[in-house]
Amino acid sequence: MNSNSFVSISDITKEDMLELLSRAKYFEEHPNSKLLDGRVVATLFFEPSTRTRLSFETAVNRLGGRVIGFSDASTSSTSKGETLKDTIKMVSNYADLIVMRHHLEGAAKYATEVTDVPIVNAGDGANQHPSQTMLDLYSILKTQGTLDNLTITMVGDLKYGRTVHSLLMAMRHFRPKFRFVSCPELRMPEEYRKICEAEGIEYSEHTDFSPQVIAQSDIIYMTRVQRERFSDVMEYEKVKNLYTLRNSMLDVSKPSMRILHPLPRVNEINPDVDDNPKAYYFEQARNGVFARQAIITKALQIDIPNHDKR
Ligand code: CP
Repeated sequence: MNSNSFVSISDITKEDMLELLSRAKYFEEHPNSKLLDGRVVATLFFEPSTRTRLSFETAVNRLGGRVIGFSDASTSSTSKGETLKDTIKMVSNYADLIVMRHHLEGAAKYATEVTDVPIVNAGDGANQHPSQTMLDLYSILKTQGTLDNLTITMVGDLKYGRTVHSLLMAMRHFRPKFRFVSCPELRMPEEYRKICEAEGIEYSEHTDFSPQVIAQSDIIYMTRVQRERFSDVMEYEKVKNLYTLRNSMLDVSKPSMRILHPLPRVNEINPDVDDNPKAYYFEQARNGVFARQAIITKALQIDIPNHDKR
């Protein structure tokens, strides 16, 4: 196991997060720093992706490294029955770092147990998506000027949405207030509500995406209902269109409020929101390159020359 792996946002301290954010800022200012000369990064995507894979690969390319990997496991020997263990052991022969997405919860953690190459979790089932969380934190910090004492409203699929689970675990270090807006079937899982209770974090649950909730929010974090996690398609059909943010709903919001969404969206944000200055989801995705440059260089223990960590 390599201790520089990044599998869960819970694995790293508040100080680690602040250092990664500081690195992300550096890379936004110096995107083409050639710090990965001679390094190879593997991107193994057993599940579909647009943003995560392409922003990791952009990050490596901008850092001067090389990328190998696959975006579709059916083109790999997984389709012939090769196990995850054997795949990870093989790729460890070729790469200095492995970025992987897998549909099984715990797959990235398992990978760390079969290799000495650092593993970065690019999403494991409904569990965690820690690199998304770093770009979310970076986006919140850029738009709000602070991570402290913010009211974060999470809307939609709070049960299966791994991005909201990771974000909750990260934001708990910064005295947040949470508003959870979902139908009962997709409410925030008990383990995360219990963490809030144990740590004295204020949260409230709502089935109505009301003007009162919108007016309180510093960040509205919309999520897609995760069709791929439902075993019963009828259950998905019942809940898929329950919450849609429309431009007319934003009149009551604070001037500084910003809307985030990990994307892809389906119907959760009406396109009429896109031109509102409070819509930040496309810039948020762009921030993914800088956050992932930070994660890659940290996992490979590459110092940034002349960079003040604070
Ligand atoms: N946000 C996110 O994980 O997007 P992709 O599924 O396109 O990677």
